Amino acid sequence: MTALFGIDVGTSAAKGLAIDPEGGVLARVEAEYPLSTPRPGWAEQDPEDWWRATETVLQQLTEAAGEPAGIGLSGQMHGLVALDAQDDVLRPAILWNDQRTQAECEEIEQTIGLEKLIALTGNRALTGFTAPKLLWLRNHEPDIYDRIARIALPKDYVRLRLTGEHATDVSDASGMLLLDVAHRTWSEEVLSALQIDPAWLPNPYESPAVSGHTENDVPVAAGAGDQAAGALGVGVDRPGPLSVALGTSGVVFAAQSEYAADEGQARIHAFCHAVPNEWHAMGVMLSAAGSLSWLRNTVAPDMSFDQLLAGAEDWPPGTENLLFLPYLAGERTPHADPDARGAFVGLSIRHDRGAMTRAVLEGVAFGLRDSLDLIAELGGEPPTGGRISGGGARSDLWTRITASVLELPLERVAVDEGAAFGAAILGGCAAGTWPDVHTAVAATVKPRDPVDPDPGWVDTYRERRERYRALYPALREIR
Ligand code: XUL
Repeated sequence: MTALFGIDVGTSAAKGLAIDPEGGVLARVEAEYPLSTPRPGWAEQDPEDWWRATETVLQQLTEAAGEPAGIGLSGQMHGLVALDAQDDVLRPAILWNDQRTQAECEEIEQTIGLEKLIALTGNRALTGFTAPKLLWLRNHEPDIYDRIARIALPKDYVRLRLTGEHATDVSDASGMLLLDVAHRTWSEEVLSALQIDPAWLPNPYESPAVSGHTENDVPVAAGAGDQAAGALGVGVDRPGPLSVALGTSGVVFAAQSEYAADEGQARIHAFCHAVPNEWHAMGVMLSAAGSLSWLRNTVAPDMSFDQLLAGAEDWPPGTENLLFLPYLAGERTPHADPDARGAFVGLSIRHDRGAMTRAVLEGVAFGLRDSLDLIAELGGEPPTGGRISGGGARSDLWTRITASVLELPLERVAVDEGAAFGAAILGGCAAGTWPDVHTAVAATVKPRDPVDPDPGWVDTYRERRERYRALYPALREIR
């Protein structure tokens, strides 16, 4: 039996999946590691922890499914690993959800000019991205900065340990703000304007390409950032359905056959897809299912999610005018604002825990709709529906609310293993199991459980959405 391994170097754990060429799961394993927040708004991890966890995962997958024909890597995007000339890690990695770099974002946009930056990279400077983190090191830890010889994204550090190669893929590289996304190569102009040595950068491959081999000579695909890999895992390998992810972060992701950036303001990310000659537009909310976890941990730590969600079923759509803003950790799309904050607005004496839960589900869905509308502004074919995945997609109620707010039919997939599934698909492409990503997706991804918008809810949500949108600017004034 041919086994293909996908590894997702996530924020809480390395997740490993072994699949067969029909997409059946042979084994799944996970090894956790800690997250460190040394100061408010900071988020760091020890790259050695990623590697140790990956070794454990690979060993357990091999015990369960045998030696793989190919391995694909995916991982949390944007993180900065700084390496010295011996490839030793110089300091803890600074992660995608770290918010310390607002001043450096402004520095980058002033140095290059916002319009030019968008023309060169497709994107604006956001605190999560990698380039501002490098400038932060230059500004705040110059001794470390001076010793940098190489930089790596999280999954690419794991690749270095696995294969000895300094390599990345174009989808993950898109989130560094150093890639010319339209041409899928490093932007010499941005590197020179920011005075970053091009020799520090790994080789950017297309996602299904072989980037190196393990010591047992297993090919390792270049792989993809977790969102692009996750999109493949739900069958979004070409324009058609969107990928809607309800994980800690919330994502609306549209595959595109042509490069298209949001030229005025880059409120939407314009990144390369994990499919050669394709791109994707993506809106990212920082707290989606993360908002529900926050609510449970805060008001009902002893309840299961199912119990919490049962209380939300008792409330009508619109939750009697209670609105929730999900900006608990700042926001990226549609408001690039690390200081944005969450809120419940419209509480009455009737509202209970179930109402607060329903308002959270609805507020997150409104946030996803903001991203969908920005993607629609780019033009192109309107989406035919969506594929919903992530922890939040396990809730029928949340899926129905999301379908009704997006006004799109949503489907789940038979194996919701997120980015690890997409990574395994790419591993199989590198192994030659399939000739290309489209064939791999058609062979392995099986949609199921369509959920249509509820006709009785759509009008209420249209009206509530307008009020939701008015809240951010109003509350920013008070802040
Ligand atoms: C995508 C993003 C997150 C991280 C975390 O732009 O920041 O999805 O990759 O997994």
